[in-house]
Amino acid sequence: MRKTNQTIMKKIYTILIILTLSVLSIKAQDVQPINNWKFHVGDDMQWKTPAFNDNAWQQIRVDIPWDDQGYKKNEGYGWYRAKVVIPSSLKNKAYLKDSIKIYIGKVDECDQTYLNGKLIGQNAGIVTANFEDPNYAWTYERCYCVAVNDPAINWDKENVIAIRVYNGYGIGGMYQAKPEISMRELIDYVKIYTDETSFKQKENNSYANSVEIVNKYAASKITGKLLVQVKSNEKQKVLWEKQLDVTMLPLEHYKATIDFPNVENSYIVYTFTESITKKTIKTLLEIPYILTPKAAKTPRINGAKVFGVRPNHPFLYIIAATGERPLTYAAEGLPKGLTLDKTTGMISGSIPAKGTFKIKLSVENSLGKNTRDFKIECGDLICLTPPLGWNSWNCWGLSVSTDKVKASADAMVSSGLINHGWTYMNIDDGWELVHKDDSITCNEKFPNMKSLADYVHSKGLKLGIYSSPGPKTCGGYEGSFNYEQADANNYAAWGIDYLKYDWCSYETVACNDTDRLFKPYRKMQTALSKVNRDIVYSLCQYGMGDVWKWGATVNGNTWRTTGDITDTWGSLSEIGFNQDKCAPYSQPGHWNDPDMLVVGKVGWGPSLHNTHLTPSEQYTHISLWALLSAPLLIGCDLSQLDDFTLNLLTNDEVIDIDQDPLGKGATRVVKNTDYQVWVKQLEDGSIAVGIFNLSNDVKKITVNWNELNIKGTKTFRDVWRQKDLGKYKDLFTATVSSHGVMLARVY
Ligand code: GLA
Repeated sequence: MRKTNQTIMKKIYTILIILTLSVLSIKAQDVQPINNWKFHVGDDMQWKTPAFNDNAWQQIRVDIPWDDQGYKKNEGYGWYRAKVVIPSSLKNKAYLKDSIKIYIGKVDECDQTYLNGKLIGQNAGIVTANFEDPNYAWTYERCYCVAVNDPAINWDKENVIAIRVYNGYGIGGMYQAKPEISMRELIDYVKIYTDETSFKQKENNSYANSVEIVNKYAASKITGKLLVQVKSNEKQKVLWEKQLDVTMLPLEHYKATIDFPNVENSYIVYTFTESITKKTIKTLLEIPYILTPKAAKTPRINGAKVFGVRPNHPFLYIIAATGERPLTYAAEGLPKGLTLDKTTGMISGSIPAKGTFKIKLSVENSLGKNTRDFKIECGDLICLTPPLGWNSWNCWGLSVSTDKVKASADAMVSSGLINHGWTYMNIDDGWELVHKDDSITCNEKFPNMKSLADYVHSKGLKLGIYSSPGPKTCGGYEGSFNYEQADANNYAAWGIDYLKYDWCSYETVACNDTDRLFKPYRKMQTALSKVNRDIVYSLCQYGMGDVWKWGATVNGNTWRTTGDITDTWGSLSEIGFNQDKCAPYSQPGHWNDPDMLVVGKVGWGPSLHNTHLTPSEQYTHISLWALLSAPLLIGCDLSQLDDFTLNLLTNDEVIDIDQDPLGKGATRVVKNTDYQVWVKQLEDGSIAVGIFNLSNDVKKITVNWNELNIKGTKTFRDVWRQKDLGKYKDLFTATVSSHGVMLARVY
């Protein structure tokens, strides 16, 4: 009996082992990982050849950039190599047996990928001396296909994969990569297209979202099932689901609009399962969630608490206030020379002499009254809080026109943004024509700059403009080189309030001495100091020479600390979470500028798209920029604002953190791969704390008092929800969505 049992057990074990092995071997046949990568800085085309001996090369990880592995600031070339056996058994299990896929993950910025010396794919090309922006190729995942009968493949033998990488700026190398080889299948020809802001909130508080699936395979139809699920952010529990049958003829698409209930703090998952191979692809979409409570009908004064102006220069300030209209405004203690329009809240005039003026502002309607202290500093320093406004670049690019600026100025007022302190309307590149009789002229899109300025001022808003110290702007338009004073005079005569001065082609005329970076900015500073108008001076040279250390010496009111931002998590997080070094230089009148906002409809050209940032990423964007005391320049078309974006930009408690009169930049107090904590000191002695979840999962994050450098019992206020969370001692824990933030004021 015992013996029989043992025999049976042995048999069962054997079967189990065989089963496990066969499962493992099926797995092994499916995907071949590419491990053990080696790396070398520099560039040599010999390195692509399989025969090259890379024994002396260093091992490297490909999930994190080379900067984090001892190759900090390697701007230029580097090569990765790995050896891998490509098993012919991959083909046995495949349905389509025509090509292999070599997946290498993300590469910052450009790559050329070789299989046994043969180029099998590249992204953004490899650019050398004339390195130009490779369309943000660094955010793309690379996957290259090779036909199974390509002699470059050594089936069942060693193959050498060599990747030539070029990095022009910032961190570089392969990252977020789990390289592997598999067969190309039907599912690789299927794409799911979704659109974050195609979420429509319906009357009964439910949502609708549109999805499109495309069959990119010309040789056959593709069928399958589309599973639509709404999952809760916190527990990732399925709250609602529906399955649809999908059939797509060659090169055809399938479209559906899905109605689902409004479930707070959740996301939608589209999973398509191809019916023959049962392989799946998945897309996740966060459902927009509105956090800022609606502004009360009772009056509230918002915006900056301090404003700087130079003596005898035109003064224009509109009191930002929410509350049911009509509102009546009053200002006690205004200096001689200034008058207030009681019905619009616009203060104008000029102050003849330097001085500090303490004003009591009040705003009243039938429901109540609100008062607030306000300070006018008449002296040399302007821009005492970071500029709040709009800039044309991230939406319109070079296609900006008078009509587009006017439409956004109108929307700045009609949307109510102006009531939260948003003021500047800045025209970026694309308005210039040529210098004629020493004067800069505007192209046909700006027939009358002075009347545009008058129009913008009549609304209590301000007008900004753009130029370059070089002969040409970045967009190839006329720059200010050798016309600095004439241009400054022109700007003042038109009524310009803000100048973004962008390095661009100055490189071609720059001298080679140690002064080269400051020289053009000093020259324009001198020119601006001679005009009888306050013009905020915004330096744009992408952070060269650690501009934050010297920007104030050329009277820069703001200075770009980085290259151009784009609407991806990669760009946003690389820029935003690398501002720590600039923090000590942030102060009233002088601001670090990590570039403009990428929320709403953006596009850098005539056609616009909804930002590619998820709702949580957008909360992170605005929170981090406010903590950094960054200029907040909205980069979208204001005439097409959706509810979510408007809500994001009208939270007065968030704006207060940005506009805090102390002007400190936040510093990072915790940094690890999954989350970071940033802290900003505020004028009233409280602190603003940003707890950022950088991981791909919802996370419970705990911060302790040592990290925050505080003591005793503290109240945490959720700034986005404008709600006190309670009193805490020693520790505070928040549940934060993926790429999201808990922004708190702690007092
Ligand atoms: C540079 C700047 C951008 C924008 C463009 C205009 O790229 O960094 O912000 O001003 O030029 O051409």
